[in-house]
Amino acid sequence: MKNKKTLAIIIFAFLFSWTWFQSQSQAVAKENVKQKELENYLRAAKIVSKRRAGGRGENWIINLDDGKAARHGFFKLLNQARPAIITDSYKYGIAAYELDKLLDLNLVPSVVEREIEGRKGSLQIFIEGALEESNRRIKNIEPPDPTRFKNTLEDLNVFENLTYSPSFCGERELGDILIMDKKDWKIWRVDFSEAFAPSPELIPGCEITRCSKKLCQNLMKLEDKAIKAKLKHYLNDEEMSMLLKRKKLIIEKIKILIAKKGE
Ligand SMILES: Nc1ncnc2c1ncn2[C@@H]1O[C@H](COP(=O)(O)OP(=O)(O)O)[C@@H](O)[C@H]1O
Ligand SMILES: [Mg+2]
Repeated sequence: MKNKKTLAIIIFAFLFSWTWFQSQSQAVAKENVKQKELENYLRAAKIVSKRRAGGRGENWIINLDDGKAARHGFFKLLNQARPAIITDSYKYGIAAYELDKLLDLNLVPSVVEREIEGRKGSLQIFIEGALEESNRRIKNIEPPDPTRFKNTLEDLNVFENLTYSPSFCGERELGDILIMDKKDWKIWRVDFSEAFAPSPELIPGCEITRCSKKLCQNLMKLEDKAIKAKLKHYLNDEEMSMLLKRKKLIIEKIKILIAKKGE
């Protein structure tokens, strides 16, 4: 009798874990399909019209249409990559998206390189009706699920240390580059055009204190050669080697945190 009960518990636990695992991998697969679809759309949709957008650089909001759906894209043109003294390049935004995909993070909206009217830039899917984090703070709007919101910001902080691109802590206050989709409070991070500074250190004042299990595991699994393969078109040798150095530092930091606080 006891054996039968144990067996039933084992089978139940196995089925439960299997179903959970399946639903998780289906969710990841769905996200990947969505990103691929958006990338194809951004590459192929017809440019219907364009108008100037805000920001420091030359940015445009583009009306796109592929015959099935009309959407907006955010087109960034400035391309002053390092060693330019005033660094600001759309290429770093694409590099950040590639890294986000390698980590299965889904914090950077889909973006591709595209030529529009003879000029190359990055074309990113436009997050409609977004609320900027800076405005959320000014207006004192509470997210519906503050814990989830805070946890996402912790993961974003890890990613910002990795890409060396602070938005809400550290050396600079750039709250305007963190935006939320008002429908579901999904957090998106845009504007990595000054990212990937060749710094061997993490960002002062943006200390990592927490990281989701998923991001930690993905970071530890991610091989340097996979990063090199995907980002080598966008980063120079120094930017790349410092990125890999920061990845190592972050993993060491996480291991220390786990040893101190437990998983
Ligand atoms: N994909 C996007 N979807 C919605 N809004 C965006 C998107 N990209 C940028 N923005 C908005 O436009 C502003 C300026 O764009 P940004 O990329 O920061 O330009 P710059 O590099 O010139 O500062 C951002 O702060 C953000 O509010
Ligand atoms: Mg900006």
